[in-house]
Amino acid sequence: MKYPILFDCDPGIDDAVAFALAAAHSDVLDIRGITSVAGNQTIERVTGNALKLTAFLGMDIPVARGSKAPLLREIIPAGDIHGETGLGNCKLPETDRTVAGEPAPLFLYQKLQELREGEKMVLVPTAPLTNIALLLKTFPDAAEKIDKIVLMGGAITGGNITSTAEFNIWEDPEAAQIVFSSGIPIIMCGLDVTCKCGFNREQIQALLAGGEKAKAFGEMMDFYFHTEVYTDKQRIAIHDAVTFMYLLHPEIFSGQEMNVSVDCSDGVNRGMTICDTRSWSDAPKNALVLTDADSEKFETYLMEAILSHDKK
Ligand code: RIB
Ligand code: CA
Repeated sequence: MKYPILFDCDPGIDDAVAFALAAAHSDVLDIRGITSVAGNQTIERVTGNALKLTAFLGMDIPVARGSKAPLLREIIPAGDIHGETGLGNCKLPETDRTVAGEPAPLFLYQKLQELREGEKMVLVPTAPLTNIALLLKTFPDAAEKIDKIVLMGGAITGGNITSTAEFNIWEDPEAAQIVFSSGIPIIMCGLDVTCKCGFNREQIQALLAGGEKAKAFGEMMDFYFHTEVYTDKQRIAIHDAVTFMYLLHPEIFSGQEMNVSVDCSDGVNRGMTICDTRSWSDAPKNALVLTDADSEKFETYLMEAILSHDKK
């Protein structure tokens, strides 16, 4: 199976690891374009990181710059978790690559128009959903060319940026509500599953002792352990990599179809994904919410993918 993909991201350490996973499987994950959006860091930094990552991993894929702020709200970067550059302490080589001329929503629409006969696109957003919402609102016919959206975001219970919300949804709740109510099938890779998908300190040490590429991604992920979230933890969650891993190995995941909507208030539940888990609910089931993963297989497949880059 080969998937035509548009990848929307805010690199961001776990977005960067998602790049490494995707680049190792370009035979299956046929990324037609990459778009940046402010989130983990400012639009300038995440866009620069996306360009450097495509060069570092030898990905001949265009990058377009996206939104510098949510639809209605002020941008609040997650710099404390991803560091000043957005990639922790890792210094990727500079690149002379430049962004595509079009802004992200138009770039995404053009890539949809370039689909071959019979093809439909898979959108993989691992960031606030601002660009995707703008695509769907600016070009209403875009939805008919989209097979599904495999997104990192949300949670059935709990949160990370607040006790009730996950960062990508919290940053731009209105954009998320537009996407969840679009009618396009959604695979929601929320915290319930992504917190079961990551590496431990030993695995990261093994990467640090590896080749140039392995060391770079090890440096990025090691940075997490110096942040408040992980100082006393033995494992990190690599949230964004779950999206591509689901496309590569759906068999290692399980979940439940349900209705998901987004709290767009300014209260304590801002950005909460309201997941209707009631089996008897007649609310339209707009999302497959992943709830479990084979953590060991996730780690094995991801480690293999990262290490493969030093063998090319
Ligand atoms: O909550 C995790 C998400 O927020 C990930 O996409 C991470 O990169 C940050 O953007
Ligand atoms: Ca991200």
